[in-house]
Amino acid sequence: MSSTTTQSDAALAYVDAHRQPFLDGLLDLLRIPSISTLPKHKKDIRRAAKYIADELERIGLKKVKVIKTEGHPLVYGEWLEATGKPTVLIYGHYDVQPVDPIDLWKSDPFEPAIRDENIYARGAVDDKGQMYALVKALEALMRAGGALPVNVKLLIEGEEEAGGESIEAYVKAHPKRLAADVALVADTGMPAPGVPALVYGLRGILYTEIHAQGARHDLHSGEYGGVGPNPIHALALVLAGLKGPDGRITIPELYERIQPVSDAERTLWDRNPVDVAALLKQEMGVDVLPGEQEYDPRERQTARPTLEVHGIRGGFVEEGAKTVIPAEATAKVSLRLPPGLRPADVLPLLERRVAALCPPGVTMTVRLVHGGDAVLVPLDNVFMRAAEKALEQEWDRPPVFERSGGSIPVGALFDSELHVPIIFMGTGLPDDNIHAPNEKYHLPNFYHLIRQAIRFLEIIGGDPAIVARPGSAAASGRANGRKRAAPTGTAPATVGKADVTEETGAEAVQR
Ligand code: BES
Ligand code: MN
Ligand code: MN
Repeated sequence: MSSTTTQSDAALAYVDAHRQPFLDGLLDLLRIPSISTLPKHKKDIRRAAKYIADELERIGLKKVKVIKTEGHPLVYGEWLEATGKPTVLIYGHYDVQPVDPIDLWKSDPFEPAIRDENIYARGAVDDKGQMYALVKALEALMRAGGALPVNVKLLIEGEEEAGGESIEAYVKAHPKRLAADVALVADTGMPAPGVPALVYGLRGILYTEIHAQGARHDLHSGEYGGVGPNPIHALALVLAGLKGPDGRITIPELYERIQPVSDAERTLWDRNPVDVAALLKQEMGVDVLPGEQEYDPRERQTARPTLEVHGIRGGFVEEGAKTVIPAEATAKVSLRLPPGLRPADVLPLLERRVAALCPPGVTMTVRLVHGGDAVLVPLDNVFMRAAEKALEQEWDRPPVFERSGGSIPVGALFDSELHVPIIFMGTGLPDDNIHAPNEKYHLPNFYHLIRQAIRFLEIIGGDPAIVARPGSAAASGRANGRKRAAPTGTAPATVGKADVTEETGAEAVQR
């Protein structure tokens, strides 16, 4: 047995011996209502950032800082003492979605409750629980062996749920500081309990607000009905026109640009033992799956474009009746974009289609709220093999490889700016209610994630094929089949670039 195997075993034993304190630490983090989209929670966001920075510091990471941005702070920490070993960039987010409708929660979203081996709280699985699991993996490795098997850089974000603009600016400004061989992200799910998954693809997103303006001011519906424009009705016509009952989006050119799903991928999908259609119906409580019937539900859910309306505002919605034709109305509309479709290219197509569908007398504008690119990670790289092995060891069965329908914009960013393959190894379950009332995290999956991350780091730190073999990512300065931005383990660049100012280190962070 090699010494690295011993460290891994010791780290795994450390996890098993510290289940309670690890859980307690997570519960404290979950008590902080770090809702990034609501300005009144700005202080809570800061508190959550500091909580994580303190933990990283305590574990023994170096250069721990809370990094100020235009938006919410980033948390950074690193440990670069594993000379000759690969560098892993670990990403997660500490911000959460709003909790409304609050009445539907069985317990307070920010007072975590454990029922049937599940932790119920906002952020339990998305992403505090999963991000924290990666931190605990580092803690266990450090405590068990006094060192990490690889070099590590952690970048934890506080506005992922609100579009993540600050991290984009930061990554673009600091490619050298963030240079790595591989990125590790735990912010995805697995298809069923006991079936581990590696997600190799995520859709991008284009989120917009469509504003409809009719008359200059509200109109009496008797006096003006029949001659006045109704922006709510106009909006309804446009929304109905954008997607047919067959699930097909009517934006010209949209489907022509999609990168098709390969046969190799379909073969991989067939290895998933889960009956996705049945599970989806059961989870949603419906007996049909609307959408493009000629496509497999799995493909519709993860690799086809979508267009969804999230909310419509306008007119009189109080109790009672008011006979008014409103002057304006707004709808929030987003599209999920498979690889090949980029938000900046789709926005003008959407604008054109909205203008074409808009009835006379109403003016419509499409405002970009946020956008993020899709990501597709090549499957044939050493890190994917290592992750596969790690998950197989942890779960006693091989993982399935799947695409996910959700979006993690930082994935595309790491790919395009840092040229690293990204390993998405999340342990969320389909019924975890992310973004919804009663979000939960299956507690055993929290511990599985800690353990599988330990195994993964241990494997890539100990595998000579990854560390020393010429032509490997670590040795050749190439990852993901393209030239890397910078060599591994590059010393941090000077702090304080134009768009981001930084606190100078843990000492400067208020405790
Ligand atoms: N963790 C999710 C993304 C996700 C969801 C991945 C389900 C895999 C399965 C992430 O926190 C998220 O919610 N992303 C947003 C992105 C957006 C706000 C830019 C999303 O997908 O809506
Ligand atoms: Mn998330
Ligand atoms: Mn989310």
